[in-house]
Amino acid sequence: MIAYQEFSKADCPEVLAFWRAIAGLGLNPQDDTPAAIGAFLDRNPGFSFIARRDGRVVGALLCGHDGRRGAIYHLAVVADCRKMGIGQTLLQLALDRLKEAGIQRCRLLVLKGNDAAKAYYHHLGWKADTFLNAYSKQLSPAD
Ligand SMILES: CC(C)(COP(=O)(O)OP(=O)(O)OC[C@H]1O[C@@H](n2cnc3c(N)ncnc32)[C@H](O)[C@@H]1OP(=O)(O)O)[C@@H](O)C(=O)NCCC(=O)NCCS
Repeated sequence: MIAYQEFSKADCPEVLAFWRAIAGLGLNPQDDTPAAIGAFLDRNPGFSFIARRDGRVVGALLCGHDGRRGAIYHLAVVADCRKMGIGQTLLQLALDRLKEAGIQRCRLLVLKGNDAAKAYYHHLGWKADTFLNAYSKQLSPAD
């Protein structure tokens, strides 16, 4: 049986280890530390979820909003539990919380070469924002 739970700060080391073993996520060494994910969860309590099977993390996603738009990061399900509806359930839990918070639109990023994730989101009715390019700027020196 799969147990779905809110993603708490205590889960950070375990979830990061889980994410690091999944191909296609594009974790960032600066943004994806226990401290950085913990800070995100503090700012966005109750929007992120994990799935456990027999106590082991088998799925997770990070979700939050800025008061205007929602954002989802790092949705992943362990390979031996895919196509069981876990990803879709994690997404639905997060999107329901966003809706309850009055957020009407949610964005997520997919790495350019991750065609399986593109097909997945297309299958679930997400639209690719092909009119956009993603930009970022480093605000402090990387370690
Ligand atoms: C993408 C991912 C999260 C999907 O998780 P999952 O639990 O296997 O997906 P679900 O079981 O919820 O699938 C829901 C539906 O999507 C379909 N689906 C699953 N993977 C799909 C894919 N790669 N392409 C198209 N459809 C897919 C399922 O068949 C199911 O369809 P149905 O509802 O019509 O029966 C998982 O494959 C994964 O972790 N991939 C690696 C990490 C990754 O790339 N994450 C995306 C980061 S941007």
